This record gives sequence, structure tokens and C-alpha cells, in this order.
Amino acid sequence: MTEDFKQNLLCIGAGYVGGPTMAMIAYKCPHYRVTLVDINARRIDEWNSDRLPIYEPGLDEIVKAVRGKNLFFSTDIENNIREADIIFVSVNTPTKTFGVGAGMAADLQYWEKTARQILACSDSSKIVVEKSTLPVRTALAMERILNSNNRHLHFDVLSNPEFLAEGTAINDLLKPDRVLVGSRLTDSGIAARQQVVDIYANWVPMERIVTSDVWSSELSKLVSNVFLSQRISTINAISAICEKSEADVANVARAAGMDPRIGSRYLNASIGFGGSCFKKDILNLVYISKSYGLDEVADYLHSIVRINAYQKERFVENMLQAMFNTLAGKRIGIFGFAFKANTGDTRESPAIYIARRLLEEQADLVISDPKALGNARNDLADADGRVAYVEDPYQAASGCHAIAVLTEWDQYKTLDYEKIFAGMVKPAFIFDGRNIIDHQHCFDIGFNVYPIGKPPLTHLE
Ligand code: NAD
Ligand code: UGA
Repeated sequence: MTEDFKQNLLCIGAGYVGGPTMAMIAYKCPHYRVTLVDINARRIDEWNSDRLPIYEPGLDEIVKAVRGKNLFFSTDIENNIREADIIFVSVNTPTKTFGVGAGMAADLQYWEKTARQILACSDSSKIVVEKSTLPVRTALAMERILNSNNRHLHFDVLSNPEFLAEGTAINDLLKPDRVLVGSRLTDSGIAARQQVVDIYANWVPMERIVTSDVWSSELSKLVSNVFLSQRISTINAISAICEKSEADVANVARAAGMDPRIGSRYLNASIGFGGSCFKKDILNLVYISKSYGLDEVADYLHSIVRINAYQKERFVENMLQAMFNTLAGKRIGIFGFAFKANTGDTRESPAIYIARRLLEEQADLVISDPKALGNARNDLADADGRVAYVEDPYQAASGCHAIAVLTEWDQYKTLDYEKIFAGMVKPAFIFDGRNIIDHQHCFDIGFNVYPIGKPPLTHLE
């Protein structure tokens, strides 16, 4: 352990979770030395620069306050493992794309490689903490690998899943609803768990720090994402009924959500959920259920993902139908490409699917987003020539037949839609995939307005 610091904390994987989480720990715990390592040298360079690799409101300030004091970013994985007392592992755990479980199971190769590297580089016993989201019972496999040594090294494997959401990560980390730490219920496991609890206790009230056995902790993370995504799929399914029955999904969600047993959050109908985790975590649990022979459970969970795919396709088909069944050669302005507001992240963004489908219908696209244009360019790299990228939404909409609002950025609520309408081909359409703009106002200006789960406002007969 380095002098003056109580302990050396290491995080392997400096991504959307590792970066903000460890920055917050360093910020709140000046007596711990916190280091992040990654195999991606460019990412580490960016963490050490003025232009951080991820956009997250409030993150720059926190990193600036502690970087070089007790927060460090490095590519030297081996030496940092050697010096660490507690190692958080926050590498990616994507869906497997090959072999058994392809398209469903979690691809654990990055995790296992990390575990083997920890073992190879350690010359003292350590605590290893699962920060990544992992299938239930992964800790057992990790324990077996790590404790397979004959060097008298002992590793306690804990589960400390992360519940932050992108775009609100700093606030989520500052005031978490709960911090969960799971361990083996052995003396050694409980003592290790206490060391992790002690870190969070520097700023999180004790009643919000929950401990459990390791399997429950691993499963709780997946289950939290099931509940959240299931609510979105439920309200999106209801939005389809609303569109047929002329009910208004916002009114329905408000009335249902006022019952405290239901609650009002995560009931915004949309073009479907995106982000790197919901889909992969649900599919992971579908796979686990199947492998336990629980086919009915698997089928129930799988329906969350099926409705999400349906909702994206439904949006495109509504556009096609409203625009006289042809989009070929029409110019469509896409407002927002990030999977949600306040992030530049486009992983699994519904905008990717919708953009590709519109291109299939031979539309030309002009994509606008305040933070995600770089990622959008990569996502649609193969569609060159048919897609333009323009930061200014007014410019993006100019000459378009339609606008599709795909991300709920605040700025789209307050644009001058009169000015936008003036520059568009008529009849002009707006498809509000997030229900964020003032529909009546846009209709009054002259737009044909198609919200999600509400009757369209159209001048066409
Ligand atoms: P990410 O892709 O942004 O970051 C992962 C990082 O790990 C990458 O920078 C990658 O280069 C690095 N990495 C991979 N293998 C490595 C190795 N062997 N050694 C060193 N570095 C390695 O992913 P993320 O979004 O931060 O997600 C990480 C985990 O956290 C996932 O399991 C995810 O499900 C979970 N999670 C994510 C979020 C979120 O909001 N993104 C929230 C909660 C939990
Ligand atoms: C989600 C969870 O909220 C986090 O608790 C969890 O830690 C994280 O996944 C994870 O495990 O990775 P995140 O994906 O960053 O966080 O963002 P959310 O705010 O949950 O949004 C996910 C998607 O659902 C976005 O596309 C969003 O636009 C959509 N959404 C959300 C809706 O369509 N309707 C809603 O009412 C809420």
C-alpha cells in the first residue's frame, strides 16, 4: 500500500461505469488512492486530458478536482494489480455472439481474462469486486480461477453492482437509492464485505448500504433492470392500444402511476428503450432461465425485448403509412441519436434501428444531436452518402419532408418550430418518438403531428 493512503483501490475497465464510479469514490474518499486501468490506451489518454472519453453532466468537475491527487488513470495493468488491495472489475459484459448461447448469454471472456490476469500479477491476497453486471453465480467461477493458485494467496470475490443511469450518473452516485454489497457468508467474506461498505460509508447513509449473500446481489442487479425495462415495454404496448382506441397514453400513465403501488416513473411511452444494458441483461436472464429448464419464465422475460423491437418497427411503419406509403427519395431530419438525453452514448440506441429502416425505405437522412454525432457516424459508417450529420437542428430540418424526434433532449422542446416549418417541404410531418414537443402548437403552425400513443393531429383527410 502506498504511504499516506489507507488503501489502494484499483478499477479494471475505465468505461461509462468504471470512470464515473471511481471518480466519485476518489472525490469522497481522499484517504484512498484510486487508480483506473484499461487496455484501451486512447481511452486512458482521454481520461488524462481535458476532453474526457464520455459525456456525463458534472463529471468533468469531479475528475478535475481529484485527478493527480488520489485519482489516476493508467495502462499499466500489471503493476497496478500488484499494488492494489481491492480490485473492482468493470469491464464490458456484452451478449455472446458465437457458439452456445449466441445472441443471449453474457460473453464472459473479458471478465475471465481479467480474473486470470489478477491471479498472474498478484503477490498478495486481495478482494475482487464484481462491478460489471454478471450472470448469477459468476462469482463462483471467479473464485475457482482466483483461488486455484498454490501460492497461499486468498481472494474474496464480492458483488457490488452499479445502478447508475447514464446522463444522471453523478447524481446517482452522489445520492444512490442503495449501494448493494454481496459476499460469501464466511468470516473472510463478511470481513471483505465490510471493507467495501467502509468505502461507501464515507458519503452514503448507512441505511442505504445493503449487504447480502453474493448470489442475491448478482441477481438483484439483473432483476432491477427487468423491472425497469418491463415498465417501459408495458407502457409501450399500451401506447399501441391507445393509438387504435384514441386514448392518450400520457393520461393513462398518469392515472395508473398515481397509485403508489404502481408509481409514476419509467412510464414514458417511447420508440423503445436503448442503452447497452437493458436488452443484454434481460436476454442474459432469459438464457439463465432456459438453462435452469424454466421455459415459461424465459418466455415471459423475453416478451420485454420482443415488445421493444415491435415498438421500434411500429414507429417506422407509422411514418411510412402517414407519408403516403413511400419514403423513397424523401429527406428526413432526425432530432436526436443518443439512446437517451444527456449522454453521447448510442449503444443499442433505437435511433440506429430506425435510421437503418428509413434508409432501407430509401429515405435520405439528416441527423442532428448535441453530443452523439461522432458515435452516430460510426454506427452508420456503411451508409455513407445517404446520411448527413448536422449539429444545428434548424439546419438539419431545412428542406426535409419530415422530422423524427428520437431522443428526449430538452432543447428540442423549445425550438422555434414556426421557423422550422417555414423551411420544410409541405405537407410537413413531425413524428415525436418521445412525446416531448408541444403537439397542438406544432399542429396549429401547420405540421401533421404524430405522437406516440396519442391520436395524430393532421391536416390531411
Ligand atoms: P464500457 O465498454 O464503457 O467499459 C468497459 C471498459 O473495459 C472498456 O474501456 C474496455 O476497454 C475495458 N476492458 C475490457 N477488457 C479489459 C481488460 N481485460 N483489461 C482492462 N480493461 C478492459 O462498459 P460500461 O458501460 O462501463 O459497462 C461495464 C459493465 O457495467 C457492464 O457489465 C455493464 O452491464 C455494467 N453497467 C453499465 C452501466 C452503464 O450505464 N453503462 C450501468 C450499470 C452497470
Ligand atoms: C439503466 C438503469 O436505469 C440503471 O439503473 C442501470 O444501472 C443501467 O441501465 C445499467 O444497468 O446499465 P440507462 O440505460 O443508462 O440506465 O438509462 P435509463 O434512464 O434507464 O434509460 C434506458 C432507456 O429507456 C433509454 O433509451 C430511455 O430513453 C428509455 N426510457 C426510460 C423510456 O423509453 N421510457 C421511460 O419512461 C424511461
